[in-house]
Amino acid sequence: MRYPEELIEEIRLRNDIVDVVGSYVRIQKKGSSYFGLCPFHSEKSPSFSVSPTKQMYYCFGCGAGGNVISFVMNYENYSFKEAVEHLAERAGIKLPEIEYTSEQKEKENKRVQLLNANREAAKYFYYLLRNKPGEAGLKYLKGRALTDETIDKFGLGFANITSDDLVKYLRSKGFKDDIIREAGLASYDEKHGMQDKFWNRVMYPIQDQNHRVIGFGGRVMSDAKPKYLNSPETMIFDKSRNLYGLNFARTSRKNHFILCEGYMDVIAMHQAGFTEAVASLGTAFTSGQASLLHRYTDAVYLAYDSDGAGVSAALRAIGILRDAGMTAKVINMRPHKDPDEFIKNLGVEAFQERIDQAENSFFFEVRILEGNFNLKDPDEKTRFIKEIAAKLVTFPDEITRENYLSAISDKYSINPESLKKQVAVLASKSLGDYVLSYRPKSGIQKKDAGEPAKKIQSFLLTWLCEEPKIYGLIKPYITIDDFTDDVYRKVAERLFSDLEKGQVNPGAIVDLFDEDEEKATVAKIFNTELVEITENNEKEKALHDLVLNVKRNSFDALNEKPDKDASDAMKIFNGKKALEQLKNIQFHIE
Ligand code: UTP
Ligand code: MN
Repeated sequence: MRYPEELIEEIRLRNDIVDVVGSYVRIQKKGSSYFGLCPFHSEKSPSFSVSPTKQMYYCFGCGAGGNVISFVMNYENYSFKEAVEHLAERAGIKLPEIEYTSEQKEKENKRVQLLNANREAAKYFYYLLRNKPGEAGLKYLKGRALTDETIDKFGLGFANITSDDLVKYLRSKGFKDDIIREAGLASYDEKHGMQDKFWNRVMYPIQDQNHRVIGFGGRVMSDAKPKYLNSPETMIFDKSRNLYGLNFARTSRKNHFILCEGYMDVIAMHQAGFTEAVASLGTAFTSGQASLLHRYTDAVYLAYDSDGAGVSAALRAIGILRDAGMTAKVINMRPHKDPDEFIKNLGVEAFQERIDQAENSFFFEVRILEGNFNLKDPDEKTRFIKEIAAKLVTFPDEITRENYLSAISDKYSINPESLKKQVAVLASKSLGDYVLSYRPKSGIQKKDAGEPAKKIQSFLLTWLCEEPKIYGLIKPYITIDDFTDDVYRKVAERLFSDLEKGQVNPGAIVDLFDEDEEKATVAKIFNTELVEITENNEKEKALHDLVLNVKRNSFDALNEKPDKDASDAMKIFNGKKALEQLKNIQFHIE
């Protein structure tokens, strides 16, 4: 599926990242790098950096990062192949026909066929809605106050009442039954043969970020159940990594997203001019979706239903957004149920006002918590205060914590000193245990355990990349197994082999990975900020500490592994030996 690596290498070499990025974004030289406003999220001061020596870009604001190829992929919405072709053309390089392995060929072929089947189905539903068979559907959508323009923009359609017309249509277009089934558009059983999945429903095509149809939601036009039927997950439809409406919302040029619960909410919001609205896909909001949004902004407004289920869903989403390093605010929809009904009844300006007045997610959480207690009862109030303290203690930043503490004390007439004391008590107990028991689902504990180790590993990798001559010093002690995370290990493996050959090329390492997130991680690793040390002996000491820390971390991790095998035992033995040796040596940097 890919071009030969040497060719990609040549394309990368002939497309200097500063030139390419510079043709899209205004960047200015500052020190050894270039800086500008990040094209992947909205910001006022430049935190987007481009390094000519590393041939990488990295945004210190939103964490987007990669090499020249992934930049073009992200900026232009290109696939890897398309980006390579674009850059080859830019540099005047002629590309050969590419060779696929049979497995790759099959997989890519399947993907293309599934996309095509979905596209054909969307076209078919689109046609039906605008013709005789779809009259009821069109009437339904118009009844829900959608304009023709909106219906077209979202490519809405209609699934006929007959049970196999889509199957017949797709067969006539040359699609095989197994593809139709794998796309989730039909099912098969012995009694009925091939049957359409969707009958007599208005159809909402679900598009990925690049406007490709990857699945459908279908709504009944009555009160029958289930209200919505959704395509199953397929090779091209991952519900935890796509969002309804993101294909439009990502270019809305607002500095936030509005997260809704339903398809109809998103559509109504876009029609009302809130083109920053997105929704999850009939499943709960996930951390994968949070990181998708985080590429563009830090701020999310929640426009969840105002009923009990909506509130619990909002509480969960707040936790997920916070773990992803984003801030959330909650829009009050009362007295209406959801954004669609709100806008229909109170209009656009009233909704804008609700956005402006949206509640800070922490206040929202505390307010919901308050509902569980009778604050007139002193014991219950004490429990309430303890719960608040438990929330406050999870704020890592002291100033933020102080601000919230005093605001909450004011609001609930709590003595700030006693709240502060309570927070201090909790903080001095083992914070890690506490966070774990308090927010069992948040994943915070796991992340915290791995984070410092990764940071230390990043220091070493960046240092190696900026000063390759230290490789000889660390080589006897550090192996790629000392890098405890999969991405880090793969980066180290390649960097070490490059260092052996004496040619470091961090930009190329980005292309070892397929996922955007992994590419950004590589950029992040190599953009770890090192403090410049000029004194050689201090530098030697710093390197020694660093190597010792990396080694100790991986040794501890291995030691704590529950089911060790013979090779682990060997590694532990070697690790112990390396640690002993390290303690007694001194590095000499010339
Ligand atoms: P809602 O019932 O709030 O959706 O469910 P909505 O968009 O406001 O629906 P309308 O206004 O009655 O048309 C929220 C979302 O949950 C999923 C869908 O993604 C829906 O948009 N859902 C809901 C299902 O997948 N199946 C269902 O039966 C109901
Ligand atoms: Mn609704």
